[in-house]
Amino acid sequence: MGERMIGVIGGSGVYDIEGLEGAEWREVRSPFGAPSDRILTGTLSGMKMAFLPRHGRGHVHSPSSVPYRANIDALKRLGVTDVVSASACGSFREEMAPGDFVILDQYIDRTFAREKSFFGPGCVAHVSIAHPTCPRLSAACADAAEATGSRVHRGGTYLAMEGPQFSTLAESKLYREHWGCDVIGMTGMPEAKLAREAELCYASVAMITDYDSWHPDHGEVDVTAIIATLMGNAARAKDMLRALPDHLERDASPCPHGCDRALEYAILTAPE
Ligand code: ADE
Repeated sequence: MGERMIGVIGGSGVYDIEGLEGAEWREVRSPFGAPSDRILTGTLSGMKMAFLPRHGRGHVHSPSSVPYRANIDALKRLGVTDVVSASACGSFREEMAPGDFVILDQYIDRTFAREKSFFGPGCVAHVSIAHPTCPRLSAACADAAEATGSRVHRGGTYLAMEGPQFSTLAESKLYREHWGCDVIGMTGMPEAKLAREAELCYASVAMITDYDSWHPDHGEVDVTAIIATLMGNAARAKDMLRALPDHLERDASPCPHGCDRALEYAILTAPE
């Protein structure tokens, strides 16, 4: 049995993690292009970690230009077994307030300008993403976030939008009232789909910064209004990551939910 290695993809406001033993920013090459940045490797609270800032240090990648395939592939090449995504989102629920963390379990993917699969002509595969996140890793993230003082909602549906503009009022109401979404963001997909194709356990911690545009008592979303909440969320995300190894086994035992065997019955192309 190999050793567990956690890959962390940090969203807006999370551009590094402090306190890694043996910290080194490593350049990792991928046939799918260059990842968003170098990858910070080391040991955190006794567990191997690889950290990648999704937008790059200096926030140079827009949600549509993030090299999602290269990012997941580069983490896999480093030996990552479990990927934790931490990203900002807007809320469609009164009770899911700015500052709260939502551990996602469902998505509606409305993105349209991104490469969404490692497969294609030559090798065709259809993985199941009925349950796109790993329950074991998600529970560990929820426990670690609660243990470090965050308010956590276990489960939530995420609307992945293309952006970069925020939603119109009509879209916000549609997603909230008719589609049953809980939160909205611009980067959760296709990352979750690609992690499944790469047979990685994947959990997503969506950190609320705002009420999008539907809420009658809150103004429209804009970047300056969400920065303070974003920075507080980022600090607690780092606390969660430091606590995460206490909630996971060191050995990478087979995933009870089969994330690490997702391709077993997925490939249709005949071997040559
Ligand atoms: N990221 C943070 N807040 C957001 C919102 N309201 N819509 C889309 N992405 C977001």
